[in-house]
Amino acid sequence: MRARTLTSIAVAAGAAAVGYATVIERNWFALRYQDVPVLPAGTDPLRVLHISDLHLTPGRHRLMAFVRSLDGLEPDLVVNTGDSIASPDAIGYLLDTLGPLLDRPGVFVYGSNDLYSPKPKNPARYLWRTSSGEHSDDEPDLPWEKLGGELSAAGWLDLNNKRGQLTVNGLDIAFAGVHDPHSARDRYDQVAGPADPAAALRIGVLHSPEPRVLDQFTADGYELILAGHTHGGQLRVPGYGALVTNCGIDRARVSGLSMNPQVARPDGKTSWLYVSAGLGTSPWAPARFACRPEATLLTLVPRSAP
Ligand SMILES: [Fe+2]
Repeated sequence: MRARTLTSIAVAAGAAAVGYATVIERNWFALRYQDVPVLPAGTDPLRVLHISDLHLTPGRHRLMAFVRSLDGLEPDLVVNTGDSIASPDAIGYLLDTLGPLLDRPGVFVYGSNDLYSPKPKNPARYLWRTSSGEHSDDEPDLPWEKLGGELSAAGWLDLNNKRGQLTVNGLDIAFAGVHDPHSARDRYDQVAGPADPAAALRIGVLHSPEPRVLDQFTADGYELILAGHTHGGQLRVPGYGALVTNCGIDRARVSGLSMNPQVARPDGKTSWLYVSAGLGTSPWAPARFACRPEATLLTLVPRSAP
């Protein structure tokens, strides 16, 4: 009798947790605020909206409404670190969702999920098996070229294995980005070399924060590196945190601001890394627990004197 009661309680608690993770927390969007001291002394703060991992499908109306609201933050720059779509029909919805954000200076890279339709799988599979390299030899079946073409046509800078430059609020910013390392599409050799020393700021952009690429950005002098992909662990254990990162970085850096300390920049300092926990999930793993979906407003401020 007692064992049966305990079993019933456990089953009810499990069902409640699944319901909470799939219905409530998955749609409980958070806006994070983070200062990063990377600008030259005497420079006005720069507001950077970092979005990632929307995995957008046409039915995600709450997600679309949240992203639409972000233009009210009046960011100076928008950075999208990939996994924007999860359906061949999502591009129109994505463009409508981004709306006026597309009129602001912006940059983007692809994630592997911008290339491949989501497939049914055990939603907890990533806890014991990385998806790294899963699609490296497959032919993409999502309209990634149309996605990139539309974002580029709107004026955003395509940083997939490319460098670029934007002037934002009078500040020259040098960018380099790579296509997604998680699906082995990064070609750092195409962007390699010292970051523009004449720029006021140098930013590296990629989807999956693989250490081998982070270290290359740092060695080339990029002071700030922005990434997504990890979903912050997606299913976290309260009091313990993420169980996995689904990439090469350690659990402590699964989301948020950290340093990339493995190598030094040419000036002897270390680079800042910000990993977004992202806004969505795969449609086949529609749950987040103790890891709310998020966008981040990074306020770049002057670095302290050496
Ligand atoms: Fe993702």
